[in-house]
Amino acid sequence: MDKLIIKGGTRLKGSVTISGSKNASLPICIAALLAPGASTISNVPELRDITTTAKLLGSLGAVVERNGSTLRIDAKTINTVEATYDLVKTMRASVLVLGPLLARFGRARVSLPGGCAIGARPIDQHLKGLKAMGAEIRLEHGYVEAIAKKQLKGERINFDISTVGGTEHMLMTAVLAKGETILENAAREPEIVDLADCLNQMGAKIEGAGTDTIHIQGVNGLLPTAYEVMPDRIEAGTFMVAAAITGGNVNINSMRLEHLDALCFKLQDAGVEITNKDGVVQVKGPRRPQAVNIRTRPYPGFPTDMQAQFMALMCVADGASVISENIFENRFMHVSELQRFGADITIEGKTATVKGVKKLSGAPVMATDLRASASLVLAGLVADNITEVSRIYHLDRGYEHLETKLSGLGASIERVQEP
Ligand code: EPZ
Repeated sequence: MDKLIIKGGTRLKGSVTISGSKNASLPICIAALLAPGASTISNVPELRDITTTAKLLGSLGAVVERNGSTLRIDAKTINTVEATYDLVKTMRASVLVLGPLLARFGRARVSLPGGCAIGARPIDQHLKGLKAMGAEIRLEHGYVEAIAKKQLKGERINFDISTVGGTEHMLMTAVLAKGETILENAAREPEIVDLADCLNQMGAKIEGAGTDTIHIQGVNGLLPTAYEVMPDRIEAGTFMVAAAITGGNVNINSMRLEHLDALCFKLQDAGVEITNKDGVVQVKGPRRPQAVNIRTRPYPGFPTDMQAQFMALMCVADGASVISENIFENRFMHVSELQRFGADITIEGKTATVKGVKKLSGAPVMATDLRASASLVLAGLVADNITEVSRIYHLDRGYEHLETKLSGLGASIERVQEP
């Protein structure tokens, strides 16, 4: 297994280019299953989760070819509607193939994704939506079996909770249902808008993506398309925090600042200067950040995927910050590792209180999940001496060449093989 060795203390300077969005690429690549033909998806990051998605689509019979950041997915011939446990267990988003296979072929069998480090992550809202559209759902031996004896029908689906995956899943299913589907209390994340734009390019009729009520008029079939994925807003946010925590001055290319309003407001409250000139976002970190409170919320609230990174920044802030995690029940796995740097953090239920310290000291730490890994790297960038982050396979799921990009900004960071 690889690890990262970081020597802290460098103020990051220079320019970095953000890769395509992992969380938009995953559903968009899966949406290619809906059309009998070859779709070309560009600006797809080279990440483990994308490789897993390509394997999953291939296991169903699609022909997937990667050329740099472009994936060609030919779903003309699908010869099985079963997604097996060994693939689904490595990436939860695999469950999103259930609806498209059901909508196109009338049946599907997909392993239940199970939980992960940050929470139980049930899919009850996904199954509620499929049942509402007329699917028969059976859970057995760890698999979800879905059958549609006749064409799925459009329905009103009111989500009990704002769910990104659930909204994406129902979008990709309702597009081939008979009649209109209305998704109420739908998630509003930019990745959902990106998916809807791609589906509409394929011939779907979706209105309202990005709001909490989405209307989908079912169509008889979809056509393959060529689509460019949006930039990764969480990678962009992570680099904004990297500039902030090191007191650096970084220009971030190909990001959409409007996707990160909540984070920007909080960074500015912490004393970070953010300017957007001709599509290049300049981020200047203060000598020492001010403590700021955050509460994670569904979009457009403060993104849960930026909570761990922001906490790293608060570890060296002037004052105390209260951070509440309202989306996932176990998303403080990074706290015990940050404490190894000398951070002063106490947890009470879903709230962490971070008392900023003047200096963190480098330490050997262990990544536990994707965004926790990023927070440990950020702490290492500013900590004294050497930090070793192990189990960085978590990081490789969501960040394309992170250490190369950080080195390009002057960070002293290298990847080494662990014996
Ligand atoms: C997506 O996960 C993202 N993953 C997550 O990013 C992100 O943290 C999350 O949305 C919230 O923004 C991808 O897009 C691949 P949810 P998802 O359904 O869709 C509960 C990262 O770091 N819930 O919006 O799984 C659930 O338990 C990852 O890139 C139900 O109760 O998240 C959670 O508490 C981590 N029943 C809340 O809703 C359901 O049927 C939000 O989950 C579905 C969800």
